[in-house]
Amino acid sequence: MQQTVPDKNDTITIVGCGGFIGSHLLDRLLEATHYRVIGIDLVSGKISRHLNNDRFSFVKLDMHDIPSVKPYIERSGIVILLAALCNPSLYTTRTLDVIDVNCTGTIPLINMCAEAGARLVYFSTSEVYGRTAASLAGRGDDAESCLLREDCSPFILGPVEAQRWSYACAKQLIERVVFACGQEHGLNYTIVRPFNFIGPRMDFLPGIDGEGIPRVLACFLSALIARKPLRLVDGGRNRRCFTWIGDAIDACMKILERPEAARNQIFNIGNPSNETTIAELADRMIRLWRRQVPGASAHGIAVEEISARDFYGPGYEDSDRRLPDIGKAERLLGWEPKTGLETALDTTIKACIDLYCPALRKE
Ligand code: UGA
Repeated sequence: MQQTVPDKNDTITIVGCGGFIGSHLLDRLLEATHYRVIGIDLVSGKISRHLNNDRFSFVKLDMHDIPSVKPYIERSGIVILLAALCNPSLYTTRTLDVIDVNCTGTIPLINMCAEAGARLVYFSTSEVYGRTAASLAGRGDDAESCLLREDCSPFILGPVEAQRWSYACAKQLIERVVFACGQEHGLNYTIVRPFNFIGPRMDFLPGIDGEGIPRVLACFLSALIARKPLRLVDGGRNRRCFTWIGDAIDACMKILERPEAARNQIFNIGNPSNETTIAELADRMIRLWRRQVPGASAHGIAVEEISARDFYGPGYEDSDRRLPDIGKAERLLGWEPKTGLETALDTTIKACIDLYCPALRKE
């Protein structure tokens, strides 16, 4: 029987398909759309349940292997770039890798999309904004002044020695490359700036399925499982807007469904209603953990403060407040986040217990 070659417009390639966001995006694309998906990554543990799906092809490839990646991009109508090194502990310890993977190693992929005429959806980061101008001007508690807007808020990074900003700087440069490819080569692109997406399959638990320091949710979950104190970097005073991964994937779907509205636009994808300090996050997680693990109330769960230098080593600085203005996504995409912080955390904690320590529920 003659095999039909899939239509380019029905094919999406996801570079970095095996990570947290990629795995959730793949779930949705295979469950709710007709697309054929090519997933490029070095790891497939988080997407293993799709490996036998007829509409999905997993290609084990390093994104740097440009000649091998090229044919997949050429046969795709849409390319979604997710490959990144995006844990803050790496920004100060593996700075050159961070700049390579997030910038220099990504540029050839963007050029390839322009040459192949593929539509590009590029995942950048909320971190590009850096520090909040309003905070630096002493207005850090005024939410309206702190709102970050895609097309007019400045990017404010620290000095070179503060290597924390190497990641933001790398992603900023890529955004500028994408923008310039749009202007000079007619690249059709959409840039997404995620604001702390959370949910099952995020990061890793140190000593269980990875090594090093993951992002804050995994750090706190790891401490809760090990019955160790939750550590608040610099007192946990910084604020984040945690965004449920399901809401974030809804936004991706809107971007795919509305190509003209999303064409050559940058979108903040985040949930401003979920803003919390990290200290409040710790309290909330302890409360929710106690509810799911009845035996946990019997032993003390503590928090302790630690300096950023002791926690991450030298070269670490932080974004104090990242509050997205999501008006543009609401207006052009018809998207708004729906899931509150309590539900998002509770579901994430449940998934963590199911995966790593179901026996705790019976204690
Ligand atoms: C990170 C990445 O840099 C961004 O690229 C990415 O977009 C973002 O996560 C995200 O998930 O969207 P950040 O928010 O600083 O940025 O990541 P976390 O490691 O989760 O840190 C959040 C805050 O918690 C920071 O202030 C950190 O110092 C603090 N923290 C972290 C603690 O207080 N205790 C911990 O155990 C870990």
